[in-house]
Amino acid sequence: MSAKEREIVKLLAKTDREERFSAIIACIRPDVFTILDLGCGIGALTTRLAEKFPSGLIVGVDRSKYLLTKLQIKKNVLRVLSNIPDVSLKRNFFDLVLAVQVLHEILCFRGVDALVKTFRNVFDLLKKDGEFIIFDHFNPGDASISLKLPEGLLGKLHEFQSKFKLRRIVYDDLGGSRIRISMRDFYDFITKVWALNSELEEEEMRETHTPFTCKELVDFVQEAGFKVISVTSLTPIDEYLEHYGVVLETEVRLPNRHVLLKAKKC
Ligand SMILES: C[S@@+](CC[C@H](N)C(=O)[O-])C[C@H]1O[C@@H](n2cnc3c(N)ncnc32)[C@H](O)[C@@H]1O
Repeated sequence: MSAKEREIVKLLAKTDREERFSAIIACIRPDVFTILDLGCGIGALTTRLAEKFPSGLIVGVDRSKYLLTKLQIKKNVLRVLSNIPDVSLKRNFFDLVLAVQVLHEILCFRGVDALVKTFRNVFDLLKKDGEFIIFDHFNPGDASISLKLPEGLLGKLHEFQSKFKLRRIVYDDLGGSRIRISMRDFYDFITKVWALNSELEEEEMRETHTPFTCKELVDFVQEAGFKVISVTSLTPIDEYLEHYGVVLETEVRLPNRHVLLKAKKC
């Protein structure tokens, strides 16, 4: 086990993710039986699903053999080691497919074709009337905002700018630790600043937390043949502002940082 894998396990076991899982579980129909959890990791959600649906069958898929070994063994859970876009399971079999915080990784590390292939595969794997639930980061847009950062965080922003690989992070230094920056660049920074100089720095700097706008996600899902039932947003970014002591100086309500989308195979 590498130090990087140990860090991922710690991250996925954080208890502050429980609230998100509850929101996801709350939108699952009570009559589902066969459930596929794509990118299940250590099974933080998979295990909750297994407890909530004791007579169901929950299949967790992940590319990491090590993370899958951390998934609690339960009699109604199966583990499958696979790259998600290539996953080969029984067609028209699942009542529900979940993709929780994994699609942005597929897009960043495998590209848009792999993402499109994933959506098509999910469509094939679901039964008619089966549901697809996506929970992920989204792009809040490029509107610019002004912020006052606490001492030290401006230096971190500069460091983030020099290390982030996906695009150029741009901001205006307004003096007095105040900056003007796009919401998109700020969201990537504030949700990834923890990774600087950690075991996960390299991976996090190659992956964005603003992969698609809600509209782009809806388009992907519809193009694969799904009917979108609902799109909501969760997790206020204010929690991060408070945590790092950032003061928003623009009069605007900042978008939440996660999207929860529910779609159906009609
Ligand atoms: C951010 S974690 C989320 C884990 C889990 N869904 C949760 O919320 O606790 C993303 C997971 O997706 C897995 N993953 C990323 N890309 C993958 C791919 N192409 N195929 C299979 N698994 C993948 C990673 O190994 C990791 O366990």
